[in-house]
Amino acid sequence: MLDELRAKEYPALATQTYLDFTAGNLYATSQLTRHHELLQRHCFGNPHSTNPASAASTELVTRARRAVLRFFNASPDEWDVVFTGNASQALKLVGESYPFEPGDRFLLTFDNHNSVNGIREFAKARGATATYVPIVLPEMRVDDADLTRGFATAKRGGHNLFAYPAQSNFSGVQHPLEWIARAQAQGWDVLLDAAAFTATNRLDLSKWTPDFVVQSFYKLFGYPTGVGCLLARKSALAKLRRPWFSGGTITVASVQGDKYYLAEGPSAFEDGTLDYLAIPAVEIGLQFVEAIGLDLIHERVHCLTGWLLEQLLSLKQTNGKPLVRLYGPPTTDRRGGIVTFNFYGADARAIDHRVVEQLANEANICLRTGCFCNPGGGEIALGLTGTELSSCFREREHDNHFTIDDFRLCIDGKSTGAVRVSLGMVSDVADVDRFIAFAKGFIGR
Ligand SMILES: Cc1ncc(COP(=O)(O)O)c(C=O)c1O
Repeated sequence: MLDELRAKEYPALATQTYLDFTAGNLYATSQLTRHHELLQRHCFGNPHSTNPASAASTELVTRARRAVLRFFNASPDEWDVVFTGNASQALKLVGESYPFEPGDRFLLTFDNHNSVNGIREFAKARGATATYVPIVLPEMRVDDADLTRGFATAKRGGHNLFAYPAQSNFSGVQHPLEWIARAQAQGWDVLLDAAAFTATNRLDLSKWTPDFVVQSFYKLFGYPTGVGCLLARKSALAKLRRPWFSGGTITVASVQGDKYYLAEGPSAFEDGTLDYLAIPAVEIGLQFVEAIGLDLIHERVHCLTGWLLEQLLSLKQTNGKPLVRLYGPPTTDRRGGIVTFNFYGADARAIDHRVVEQLANEANICLRTGCFCNPGGGEIALGLTGTELSSCFREREHDNHFTIDDFRLCIDGKSTGAVRVSLGMVSDVADVDRFIAFAKGFIGR
């Protein structure tokens, strides 16, 4: 069924090997057609009004909110959907509005996207401490003793925020969702970054109850870009304190009276005019995924990942050593469809990831290299120590300016990145086979 769907709905895949689903999912032709027909048939206006064109937009935005809640099995009595531009904007909303005070705590895993790491700057600016829980090679998981120690640092009666990804965008590790209740029982609000998880795994918010969940919809179904959301429990949203107001977020604001009143619920967090033409495409995308079935997508990606891992790890360099060094779990146990590694040459040195990317581009294979905006994952995988990094940053010429090339020079001799292959709902066996054939090209290099 998925093979037929791929042939029919994704004609561009006939000539591309697309292995970058974690960066961006692909869109089906019918998603575009349904969305464009909708726009052609109706007149949609700015929703900040009551005229018929405005009401038509409001209705579709409301429907999209309901569709998001349904998709995540989140009760509308308990959860709100705040539409944002992407997951990063949703994270920033939490960071800038979380009521951090001196002595409060922000706890996060090494394994996090930079858009989560950035919250530490809001925390520190308000006197809270930001603490990282390490991850450990070779599987790049968190050691439970470290997590226990981290959880024990919650400030009694204070505001404590714990943030982690449901699936690592670096290693594919799926960190336990059981951490949510465990953290909450010890006084933490939990921010779950679901951006790399939900395209191929079910997140049931009637079972798991983090306080905040962030998401970019293009990662789920490719189209539209520019729409994400913050899913928040109503009680958690009520805790947030916005540092400003803007068009759309207030009931009343006065110039002469120097006063404003924030709107209730999600509106208070949706700055300016929503992307009301794109948001209806979210409901279309969710329906598209539901019609295929998330469980089927999950199973397909699970099997293909196992096949990819098995073959990749069996390849040997001419010196008899493994061709790749994998950063993450070697089996499909508690991991998703993200496989990250470096190729090793016959001289036993890592082959520069930029060379791999260049060769992949030439072979019309789309993959990703570097650190994928996850520096904690990269530092652990590549063996870069805090001391080494601090001494680079302390050099005078690096006070305000530090390019990726400066970084390469500074940590001379070590890799600055890795190669990431990520599978998605319409990946097939031929994609994996083409990649393995490409990988074999590094034997003897
Ligand atoms: C785990 C994770 N979190 C957050 C993000 C940020 O998403 P966006 O760039 O859409 O804001 C990404 C993007 O790759 C991600 O993989």
